[in-house]
Amino acid sequence: MSRKALIAANWKMYKTPAEAKAFVDAFLPLVAGHDRDDIALFPSVTSLATVVEAVKGSKVAAGLQNMHFAEEGAYTGETSAVMLKAVGATHTLIGHSERRQYFNETDEVVNKKLHTALKHGIVPVVCIGELLHDREAGLTADVLVRQLKGALAGVTAEAAHSLVIAYEPCWAIGTGKTATPKMAVEAHAIVRAELANLLGAEVAKATRILYGGSVKPENAKDLCCEEEIDGALVGGASLKPDSFAAIVKY
Ligand code: 13P
Repeated sequence: MSRKALIAANWKMYKTPAEAKAFVDAFLPLVAGHDRDDIALFPSVTSLATVVEAVKGSKVAAGLQNMHFAEEGAYTGETSAVMLKAVGATHTLIGHSERRQYFNETDEVVNKKLHTALKHGIVPVVCIGELLHDREAGLTADVLVRQLKGALAGVTAEAAHSLVIAYEPCWAIGTGKTATPKMAVEAHAIVRAELANLLGAEVAKATRILYGGSVKPENAKDLCCEEEIDGALVGGASLKPDSFAAIVKY
C-alpha cells in the first residue's frame, strides 16, 4: 500500500490573521493542481478561522498547533476539539517538542489529547523526537519507543486509522541542522516497527511518518524521496509562500 505524503506548515507563534490570509492567497495559486501530496497549514489559534475560510475550495487543510484533551471546562487559555471543529478545522498537532519543553507536556497528556482527537474525528499529528544528549548517549530508539508507547496507550488499531506521526529530532528544530536522510530513515524504521508492535502490521504500514527539523527547499527532495519518509512538518521555511510551495513541489 502506498502512503500519500503530507507536507505540513507549523507556523508556531507567527502571523496575524491578515498575514495568514495574505500567505494563503499567495500560496494557493503556487500549488494549484498539486495532487501528489496532502497539504496542511497549522496557524496560531487566532488565525485558524481565517485560514479555514481562505483555503475553502482548495485541497489544503487547516489545523491547530495544540488542543486540550477536555471537551470544555475551566482551562484558561486552552482550545477544545469541539472549538477546533466548529471553525471547520480538521487537524491538530499533538505533543510538539516546544509544548513538551516549555509547557511541560508529558507523554500522559499527549495520550489524553490523542484519545480526544480520535474521538472527535480530528486528524492527529503526534510529534516525537529525541534530544541531542539522548542521541549522543545512543538512546534515540529508547526515547522514540517510550514516547510512542506513552502516546498510544489504550489506542486501538481501529481508532488509529487517521494517525500521523511526526519524527522531529529536537536538535534539528530551528537550528539549521537537518537529520541526514539516512538518520531520518533509521528513526522512521524504529517508529514503524514500534507502531507494528503497538497497533499491528497493517496500521503500521498505512501510518504516515513525517520528518521535521530544518526542512528547507534545498533538502526537501532528499528527505521526502525516501520510501520511509511520508512528508514533512516544516517550521521556519513554511512562513513564506514561495519557500513552502517549493518544499511541497520538491
Ligand atoms: P523548523 O523547520 O523551523 O526547524 O521547525 C521544525 C518544527 O518544529 C516543525 O514542527
